[in-house]
Amino acid sequence: MFFETKAYLKHILKAKGPHGVHSPLVFDLITKVLVQRKSFYIFDTIEMERAAFLNSRDVLDVNDHGAGSRKMKGHQRGVAEIARYSLQSAHHAQALFKLLHHFHPENILELGTSLGITTSYFASVSSNSKVWTIEGSDQIGHVAEQLFQRLQLWNVRLQIGTFDSKLPGVLNEMGRVDCAFIDGHHEYEPTMRYYHQIRKHSHENTLIILDDIHWSASMEKAWNEIIHDVDVTLSLDFYHFGVLLFAKDRVKEHFRLKLP
Ligand SMILES: C[S@@+](CC[C@H](N)C(=O)[O-])C[C@H]1O[C@@H](n2cnc3c(N)ncnc32)[C@H](O)[C@@H]1O
Repeated sequence: MFFETKAYLKHILKAKGPHGVHSPLVFDLITKVLVQRKSFYIFDTIEMERAAFLNSRDVLDVNDHGAGSRKMKGHQRGVAEIARYSLQSAHHAQALFKLLHHFHPENILELGTSLGITTSYFASVSSNSKVWTIEGSDQIGHVAEQLFQRLQLWNVRLQIGTFDSKLPGVLNEMGRVDCAFIDGHHEYEPTMRYYHQIRKHSHENTLIILDDIHWSASMEKAWNEIIHDVDVTLSLDFYHFGVLLFAKDRVKEHFRLKLP
């Protein structure tokens, strides 16, 4: 907890807004993509589903295959509690939606479905895209499955199982990964392993997004190592999540940014 507070204060002091960045690409990403005032029609629909989860009295039996939660302990977890502590906020999920809407990836991968809220944002960007998402806890996965059916998101392929057991098969099926969102098992070693596995299926225009990059010393270590990977040419640290781009015709750059 202390680590996160220190990392957050450091970010606040160092992060730049659009006028502090010298890169035209990053300036445009902030001012034209992330600061769109336009509300996409699907935002309200998905947020109504989140609100229903927050009011749910259902309790699930959960197997935690990841780094665990600082807020939720034990195997019995309320859907409301999961919705409160485990999911991307509306602000972050909508920022990710806008990024995907801009880059229009076709083959999208998510590690960590949870109740399926962020998956639903991803799958709503375009019905031509396909979203593969992996969730280790079967009861949580079933709640997400029902959400995809209610929202008629037929382009989601949910796999229930651990990332270790499911990722190789999913990557083979995907062939090419255009966008990956790593949002589970927030520890150094598994994060590095999933990153390298995904990299083998990615290309110059792939977008990789890592969540909780300052959640712990081990996640920060993974993030710092990844941004120094020779293939990463642009890394954007929005504190809560980090975005990686690989276009070869660019000089390597790294930015700490305020999320608008
Ligand atoms: C932070 S939540 C994902 C939130 C979701 N992306 C959203 O914003 O709506 C992480 C999820 O990953 C799952 N998870 C963590 N480690 C895992 C692993 N090693 N294998 C499979 N699932 C895992 C957890 O069960 C949890 O539901």
